Amino acid sequence: MTTHDSGSAPKPPAKDPWDLPDVSGLTVGVIGGTGPQGRGLAYRLARAGQKVVIGSRAAERAEAAAAELGHGVEGAENAVCARRSDLVIVAVPWEGHAKTLEALREDLAGKIVVDCVNPLGFDKKGAFALTPEEGSAAEQAAALLPDSRVTAAFHHLSAVLLQDESVQEIDTDVLVLGEARADTDTVQALANRIPGMRGIFAGRLRNAHQVESLVANLISVNRRYKAHAGLRTTDV
Ligand SMILES: NC(=O)c1ccc[n+]([C@@H]2O[C@H](COP(=O)([O-])OP(=O)(O)OC[C@H]3O[C@@H](n4cnc5c(N)ncnc54)[C@H](OP(=O)(O)O)[C@@H]3O)[C@@H](O)[C@H]2O)c1
Repeated sequence: MTTHDSGSAPKPPAKDPWDLPDVSGLTVGVIGGTGPQGRGLAYRLARAGQKVVIGSRAAERAEAAAAELGHGVEGAENAVCARRSDLVIVAVPWEGHAKTLEALREDLAGKIVVDCVNPLGFDKKGAFALTPEEGSAAEQAAALLPDSRVTAAFHHLSAVLLQDESVQEIDTDVLVLGEARADTDTVQALANRIPGMRGIFAGRLRNAHQVESLVANLISVNRRYKAHAGLRTTDV
C-alpha cells in the first residue's frame, strides 16, 4: 500500500535552514537606542538599508542620536519607537530591563522582540555572569511580554566595532534563540543584512543563559588581547 493510499499526508520536503525570509521591508526599533550597543546596531542596520527608529526615555535624546547616525535613522520616545516598529531590539542595561519591558507590554504586543541584554556583574576580578530568577534576560522578557514573540540575539557584538564607520564588515556569527522558527528565521535574516555577520539558530530561550553569560568570557578575551572579539561557529 502506498503512503497516499493509506491516507497519511505526504511528508513535506525538509526546509533548507539557510532559506530565510526577505526582511528588507521591516521597520526595526531599538529600545535604549541612545547607548553604544543600540546606536551601533541602528547604524549598521540603517547603513545596510533597513528603516530604523531608535528609542529613548526622552524623545529629544533619541532625535539627537538619530541625527548623528544619519542613514535615515529616526528617534522617538521608547513607546512610540515600539509602536512604529515591526521588530524591536531591546538594548537597555540589565538594571533597567524588567521595568522598561513592563511599561512597554502593550506597545510591544504582536511584535518580534529581540533581546540582546547580558546580565553581568563586575568586580576587581573582571566580568561575571548573573543568573536572573527567570533563567536569563530573554526568559524574563518572555515572561513579561506574553503577547510578544520574544527572541534573543546580538549578545556577542562589540559596540566599538559596530559604531566605527571605517569598519566595513563585522566579522562574526550571531546566535539567535527563540521558540518559533519563523521568528528566529526573521532575526537571522536581519543579522545577515549586515556585511560580515551571519545569523545562526542556536536553540530555544531556555538556553539563552549560556549565550548571555559567554559575554563575560569575551570581555576577558578582549582585556587580555586588547581586541573586540566576535564568534564563529564552525562546520555550518
Ligand atoms: N556595549 C556592548 O558592547 C554590548 C554588546 C552586546 C550587548 N550589549 C547589551 O546591550 C545593552 C545595552 O548596552 P549599552 O552599553 O548600550 O548600555 P547603556 O549605554 O548603559 O544603556 C543604553 C541606553 O539605555 C537607556 N537606559 C539607561 N539606564 C536605563 C534604565 N535604568 N532603564 C531604562 N533605560 C535605561 C539609556 O538611554 P536613555 O537615557 O536615552 O533612555 C542608555 O543610553 C546591555 O544590556 C548590554 O548587556 C552591549
